[in-house]
Amino acid sequence: MTSETTTRCVCPGSFDPVTLGHVDVIRRAATLFDEVVVAILHNPAKRGVFTPDERRRLVVDACPEVPRLRVEIFENRLLVDVCRELDATAIVKGVRGGTDFAYELPMALMNRHLSGIETVFLPGDPRFEHISSSLVKEVARFGGDVSGLVTPPVRDALVERLQGQ
Ligand code: PNS
Repeated sequence: MTSETTTRCVCPGSFDPVTLGHVDVIRRAATLFDEVVVAILHNPAKRGVFTPDERRRLVVDACPEVPRLRVEIFENRLLVDVCRELDATAIVKGVRGGTDFAYELPMALMNRHLSGIETVFLPGDPRFEHISSSLVKEVARFGGDVSGLVTPPVRDALVERLQGQ
């Protein structure tokens, strides 16, 4: 028997900017769900380097081969409201280790408390364990080479935006 139900996951984050670690999680989410929506959301704890629209374009550029992918900006919204609007099956988050898990778990529990939605944690690929948007920005700001951490368009955008700052 086949089911007609479409499964849709939301990969939420600041994506300021998208890294190869994010791309790996987005690709893997697409093997588990019929549709992936990358939701670019505001994290009040973080000051942005790129505008939401710049982030969106960099994510789209970074994931050309991911099937049935949508990349959308949701400003000043709760993630659970976004998930409701999208009729999402689950939230997907990558976790690189215990520190990530400690950060993600309260959010997953809060989101489940608010709406019942479950969060699926994908273990980060060890090749990308050291990569975070914050570290990538710091390396780029002081003239370090971020090739191999982000896509070439993201590297170029970082160099243009941050060097000399
Ligand atoms: O990539 P980040 O910065 O770790 O992502 C955090 C993000 C944007 C997913 C989180 O801050 C979020 O969900 N923001 C939207 C507002 C919201 O729903 N806050 C309550 C979270 S329990």
